[in-house]
Amino acid sequence: MSNKSLEGKVAIVTGGGRGLGRAHALALAEAGARVLVNDLGGSDRGEGANNGPALEVVREIHAAGGEAKANTSSISDWDGAKSVVDDAIRHFGRLDILVNNAGISRFGSDIASISKDDWEVTMAVNLTGTAAMSHWAAAHWQERGPEAGRAIINTSSPAGVNPLPGSPAYCVSKAAVAALTQTSAAELARLGVRVNALAPMARTRMTDAVPMIDAMMKRSETFDPYGPGNVSPLVVYLASKECRFTGRVFGIGGGRTYLFSGWSADAEIVVENDLITIPAIAEALRDVPVAERPYIIMPGLHLQKPFPDDEILQALNLA
Ligand SMILES: NC(=O)c1ccc[n+]([C@@H]2O[C@H](COP(=O)([O-])OP(=O)(O)OC[C@H]3O[C@@H](n4cnc5c(N)ncnc54)[C@H](O)[C@@H]3O)[C@@H](O)[C@H]2O)c1
Repeated sequence: MSNKSLEGKVAIVTGGGRGLGRAHALALAEAGARVLVNDLGGSDRGEGANNGPALEVVREIHAAGGEAKANTSSISDWDGAKSVVDDAIRHFGRLDILVNNAGISRFGSDIASISKDDWEVTMAVNLTGTAAMSHWAAAHWQERGPEAGRAIINTSSPAGVNPLPGSPAYCVSKAAVAALTQTSAAELARLGVRVNALAPMARTRMTDAVPMIDAMMKRSETFDPYGPGNVSPLVVYLASKECRFTGRVFGIGGGRTYLFSGWSADAEIVVENDLITIPAIAEALRDVPVAERPYIIMPGLHLQKPFPDDEILQALNLA
């Protein structure tokens, strides 16, 4: 692929002022795209606002000889999301690539202790923001008519496809982003839009805040395989005509890139033309192992099982 594989294309990167989004915006600009850098500039918990991060990345792109404009709206607001798409079209006259990257995490509360605010704000940014941006981009493309070469790249998480205990809102929002990726891919193919998702692992302020994840991300003195810039070539690939995929989730981080294959069915009970009985269910499931497979953050990076056997036994025996 040439360095300028995205010449003539216009891209939006939400949350493009820091971390992974910043790296994606720089990489897309380097590949020749004109970039609308969106970032609200709030804290890692989604509080406050600051136009500095978006403006700084625009300055960096200009300094490298690229074209970019800033937008500092919140994508969790349906009208704010519309302003991002409107700005891309106002500044650059078209839209080809939408990178839905903006996200927040409020790790540390389980379902028993999570507050309504933590649940709602996480869903609003990670899920509603991704949906709102996809809606306005798709509505624009629908108005313009079909054209090959369009792409949406969503941001799920290894914690969305293999949920971790301790952050239900984050995991659920990211699982929903994977589902939205599949529905959008099926709906928007007719407009020439491919829709895929990343499940990245990269060293950013988000992972700095979670010591367990930070400790897993080993680096050498000369190279950091978890640098955000290692994820962005996948974004450029997914945005380019080299990519044949749609509706898929790509894991990436620590020098590994891989494809997730979604939910699978482990046990099957077939009862046709009759009501299934409770003993038939119990009998069919009798030999299926109770514990799930080990929790896999990514190939080669396993945690303990999500439900250790002794915890399952404890739950069964509490009555
Ligand atoms: N870093 C990782 O290992 C990792 C792992 C899995 C998923 N992710 C996902 O990658 C994405 C980027 O995360 P990061 O690690 O670079 O974090 P980050 O905190 O460094 O960057 C996120 C950016 O999004 C912006 N943002 C937040 N809410 C916004 C809103 N409402 N509107 C516009 N901008 C908003 C923030 O201001 C920030 O600049 C997130 O969706 C995150 O969930 C990251």
